Amino acid sequence: MARGSFKSKFGVIAAVGGSVVGLGNIWRFPYIAGENGGGAFLLVYICVSLLVAVPILLGELILGRQTKTNSFGAFRAMTAPKKTLWPAVGLLGIISAFLIASFYMVISGWGVEFLALSIIDRFNGQSAAEIQQNLSAFIASGWKPMIYMAVFVAANYVISLLGVEKGIEKFTKFLMPLMIVLIGIIMLNSLSLPNAMEGVKFLFVPDFSKITPQVVLMAVGQAFFSLTLGIGAMIIYGSYVKEDVNLYHTAAAVAICDVVVAILSGLAIFPAVFSFGINPTSGPDLVFITLPNLFQQMAGGYFLSVLFFFIIVVAAITSSLSLVEVVTSFINEELKLSRKKAATIAVVAITASAALCAYSMIPDSAVKVAGMSLFDLFDSITTKYTMPLGGLLTCIFVGWVIEKRILRKQLTNNGGLGRSALRIYMTASFIIRYLAPIVIVLIFLDVLNII
Ligand code: TRP
Repeated sequence: MARGSFKSKFGVIAAVGGSVVGLGNIWRFPYIAGENGGGAFLLVYICVSLLVAVPILLGELILGRQTKTNSFGAFRAMTAPKKTLWPAVGLLGIISAFLIASFYMVISGWGVEFLALSIIDRFNGQSAAEIQQNLSAFIASGWKPMIYMAVFVAANYVISLLGVEKGIEKFTKFLMPLMIVLIGIIMLNSLSLPNAMEGVKFLFVPDFSKITPQVVLMAVGQAFFSLTLGIGAMIIYGSYVKEDVNLYHTAAAVAICDVVVAILSGLAIFPAVFSFGINPTSGPDLVFITLPNLFQQMAGGYFLSVLFFFIIVVAAITSSLSLVEVVTSFINEELKLSRKKAATIAVVAITASAALCAYSMIPDSAVKVAGMSLFDLFDSITTKYTMPLGGLLTCIFVGWVIEKRILRKQLTNNGGLGRSALRIYMTASFIIRYLAPIVIVLIFLDVLNII
């Protein structure tokens, strides 16, 4: 199959950034930070993102651009003609992508619902408690989240059929910068509320006693989730990147963008959380109950809230597309079905699993595993185990299994990037070979109480 490529360098950053920046930054980061100690979590999160996650991002982009195929095929192509077990890492990623997509679609559906409610101005005059009650009732209905989820998945399906390069690049180039500006405006408003400093302190002043193995693992999981790592999504995106693009700059720009958007959303959420007396450990609904309250206090709040939830939905689409793409490209290129058939199978399977997730979130639903909803179960399996494991194996693969020459070629663009790229190659290869794998193994051992 002839592969297209992203048109411009900014297009690459925008498309990769579109997959990276999503609900993970705006919805997941604030609530996970809220549940895991605020400032302490942020500190660990930044360290992990830059030290462990960026090298893995780089590793995935390298594999993709080198092999120009899907995540499963990439591992096979690099080890051919030998038959090895490495493609199983690709398979692990495809299973992770499926599980993440299942709950991601449900939360994105909440986003669609909040967009609809914003448009009809339903939040006007509602207190935080009322908004929370309504959200709980929405979740408890079971069928409403399924309908909004289905609307969202349908949008995904259409864009996915248009093809990756055409579909995503256009959207993100324009909407990503707009989103950052909008979050900035919301942040300034949040910071001007009474008691705002409490929230700023919560986010920025670390209480070191709160850094436990569990918090570190949660930070790793969040970094992987937010940077879209460990499932092979970036292998696919790498396969669309042109040969003259500097991969290191791309990875660094995307990671910085990701951390900045997370911090901006933290600064938009926590001052308001403390000002309105919302509990920072409220969990997945934290952002959904905080923001509508905040919009009510803002000049032009109606307009801004419609625009904001619209952009949230678009950011969720550009991210979920990459999840669907992991499953679709595998079916398309490995099982040799047409792209249309592959996308249809992927979307139908994900919709069924997402519907089950939504059903399982009803408080006394029959679908629970060890008392957990499928949402909690899928989230915890992927962010705590399969993504870090996939990342670890990718590092080992790129650092130790593939020929060094390839790593060097991809990081220096065959020597075309000059001397500084050589230095970057040396540093990156050290981190990919030693530092990142050791850190991940230590975290696993620590959490399992082995050390
Ligand atoms: N990174 C995206 C976000 O922050 C979510 C996402 C998209 C993702 N594709 C992924 C997470 C692949 C893990 C793996 O919203």
